[in-house]
Amino acid sequence: MPAPLIITIDGPAGAGKSTLGEHLARRLGYLYFDTGVMYRALAWAALHRHVDPADAEATAALARTLDIQVLPAGAAADGRQYTVLVDGADVTWELRRPDVERVVSVAARHPAVRTVLRARQRAIGNRGRVVMVGRDIGSVVMPDAPVKFYLNASIDERARRRTVEIQSRGGASDIQHIRNEIMRRDELDRHVSAPAADACIIVSDGLTPEQVADLAMSYIRRVAGELPE
Ligand code: DC
Repeated sequence: MPAPLIITIDGPAGAGKSTLGEHLARRLGYLYFDTGVMYRALAWAALHRHVDPADAEATAALARTLDIQVLPAGAAADGRQYTVLVDGADVTWELRRPDVERVVSVAARHPAVRTVLRARQRAIGNRGRVVMVGRDIGSVVMPDAPVKFYLNASIDERARRRTVEIQSRGGASDIQHIRNEIMRRDELDRHVSAPAADACIIVSDGLTPEQVADLAMSYIRRVAGELPE
C-alpha cells in the first residue's frame, strides 16, 4: 500500500491524539511529531525568562529566537515519546508541569506567535513521512495533507483517561479537577480547534486505542488505494 506522506491528527485535549499518532507512526515507519510541544516549549521559556505570556509582542519575539528541537526518545527509558530541547536543555518532562499547562493556551493564542510556530511545523511536515498531531494541522498548517483525522471523545471520557494517565506516572489526580481543567482548555483552544472540512472524524468513546488505530488504518488504506502509486 502506498501510504500517504502526511497524516494529520487534530482534536481536543485528552481525546487520544498522541496515542493514535504514535501508533500510526510506528506502524508506517513515519516520524511522530506532536506540535503541541512547541507551544509548551515556548510557554516554559516564557516562565523561565520572565516574559509575560499574555504579551503578544514579547512572546512572539521569544518564539522567533527560541531554538526548539524535537528529537527521537533515543536511549531515555522513562516512558517519553520524544525528547524536547529548548536552547539545548532537555525540558521533555518539564513541559507537562501544571505551571506550563496553565499558561500554554495564553501563549498560543497570539496570531504573531502562531505564524512563527506554524512555519516551523510546516517545514517539518513538508519533509514528508510524518504523522503530525495538534489542533490546526489539517485546517491551517498542512491543508493539503491527503489524510486528516479529527479525534474526539466526550468530556467525561477524556477526564477519565487523563486521570488514569497521570496516576500511571505516579501523580496525584482528582477527576473533577481534571475535568474542569480540560473544559477550561477547550474554551481557550476553541479559536483553533475546528476540524478541517475534509477530516475523517473519529469519536473514541467506548473504543480501545487498538480499535481506534484499526479504524484509522482502514481509512488510510482506503485513501491510499485511491492515490497514484
Ligand atoms: O496538545 P497539547 O495539550 O500538548 O497542546 C498544548 C497547547 O498548545 C494547547 O493549549 C493547545 C495548543 N496547541 C495549538 O494551539 N495548536 C497546535 N497545533 C497544538 C497545540
